[in-house]
Amino acid sequence: MATLLQINSSIFGGQGVSTTLADRFVSHWQAANPNGQIIRRDVAAEPLPHLDSATVAALMTPAGQRTPAQAERVTLADTLIDEIQRADVLVIGAPMYNFTIPSQLKSWFDYIARARVTFRYTEHGPEGLLTGKKAYVFATRGSVYGEAPADGVTTYVRQMLAFLGIVDVEFIYADGLNMGDEPRTAAIAGAEQAIAALTAA
Ligand SMILES: Cc1cc2nc3c(=O)[nH]c(=O)nc-3n(C[C@H](O)[C@H](O)[C@H](O)COP(=O)(O)O)c2cc1C
Repeated sequence: MATLLQINSSIFGGQGVSTTLADRFVSHWQAANPNGQIIRRDVAAEPLPHLDSATVAALMTPAGQRTPAQAERVTLADTLIDEIQRADVLVIGAPMYNFTIPSQLKSWFDYIARARVTFRYTEHGPEGLLTGKKAYVFATRGSVYGEAPADGVTTYVRQMLAFLGIVDVEFIYADGLNMGDEPRTAAIAGAEQAIAALTAA
């Protein structure tokens, strides 16, 4: 049974364009995989605590010696990692806020990157351990970037996923969303076409 993990991060909830586009993709996926399992996590609606020294200390404390607060923090981190380990398909809603991803989405990446669990260092350098997955990233922006240097979303997300072993990544863009009604409509239509093409098979 295939499993899809959807991570939303728009601060506009269901009104966010990245969420709307990701939802559309997931509906198609669900239709094609009626027995598939979908795990949804909205990191804007339910933000993760920032990865701080207390969290790192909790992770480094042996299980039997953790305080209740430390155990709770480790359980959260373990749950997030378990979700992505189980997923065959990863869907990320990645709006651009101030040239990069929402800080809530950054927090999610901070939790799932764990040495010896989702990546490891070898004599040849880092090796991602979350292999065999396909990721779809719904990147929404007020202005137009393509993959210009000012686009701090594509580079970061691609790098982070590759670091974790996820190299089969498709970006679906909706650019120019805040440039007026016409460009906005065209951008959303273009992304919807891309989704239709990706899910047509
Ligand atoms: C706080 C904030 C910061 C933003 N920063 C940028 C930016 O740096 N560049 C840009 O092109 N658009 C920016 N935008 C516009 C968003 O990218 C655009 O509204 C997009 O629709 C957000 O995706 P969403 O609808 O899924 O939340 C920003 C919007 C907000 C609310």
